[in-house]
Order: sequence, then C-alpha cells, then structure tokens
Amino acid sequence: MSASCSVDLTPAEKVLERYPAEEASLIQVLQDVHRAYNYLPCEVLVRVAETLHVPLAKVFSVGTFYKAFSLTPQGRTIVKVCTGTACHIRGAVQLLDELCRQLNVEPGGTTPDLGFTVKTVNCVGACAMAPVLIVDETYYGNAAAAKVGKYLKGSGGKADAN
Ligand code: FES
Repeated sequence: MSASCSVDLTPAEKVLERYPAEEASLIQVLQDVHRAYNYLPCEVLVRVAETLHVPLAKVFSVGTFYKAFSLTPQGRTIVKVCTGTACHIRGAVQLLDELCRQLNVEPGGTTPDLGFTVKTVNCVGACAMAPVLIVDETYYGNAAAAKVGKYLKGSGGKADAN
C-alpha cells in the first residue's frame, strides 16, 4: 500500500499478537489499536487487514462506521460540547463557537499541535446541568462561554461545581 504514511507499527504488532488471526477479532483489535495511537493510521489498518485475513475495504468500513474510531490524528485532550436539545436551548452554540474561536479550529477539528480535538455529541444524559461541556472525562455543567479558557486550562482537573 501507500508509502505516504510513516507510522511505527510496533504498537499495532503488539496488539495483534494478543488476538487470534481471524475476522472475529477485528473490532477488539481496532479498539486496542485506536487506544494505542489515538486514531487509526492507514498503515496500521493495512497491517490489521493482512494479519486478520480480512479485506482492507472491510477494515476501513468498520473503522469509519463506529463514531468511537477516528481515521485522523486526535488531540491529546478531547473536548466535547453537547448539542442535544436541552443544551442547545441553554447556550451550546455560543459555547461551541467560543471554544472553536479560542482553539482556532472548526467543530470536529484538531489543533495543529495535536493538543485538542473539538467534538459535538448528542445528549449525554445530564440535561439538568445543561449546557454541558466535557473535557476528556470531566463534565462541566452549566458551562458558560466566558469560562471556556478555564475549562481548557483545567484539562484533567476537577469538575466545575457551578
Ligand atoms: S441535551 Fe445535553 S445533556 Fe441532555
């Protein structure tokens, strides 16, 4: 395949060693590989296809079907803005606009230094504290556009009690 990607395949090889070389292993392998690289590099997908004896088209289709997988590099910190109805009504758009303005990315985009990726998500089941912004695993309820900088600085920090 293409020589345009140059990715260290060692982490992928280590994942592949842990599973039977068969199609049934595909999703688990992709999950582990995604965890190892924070995305699914093309060279890795080729290696997965070869090792598991699965057509490359099938590997790509699984890699693109599940929202949890990304085929492009992701930021080390994932920032999600809930754009479900309750959050939308209570200011999710302004929150998302301010977040994207501060990071200089579009929704779905990643900063060039791979520091942050901005995503939108549907209702995360916390409507009572809408609008909700999630920095990695930390939920910020009643999130305000004016506090976006604080949320970003607190990456890996604690949830806002406001
Ligand atoms: S709509 Fe955002 S948490 Fe429910």
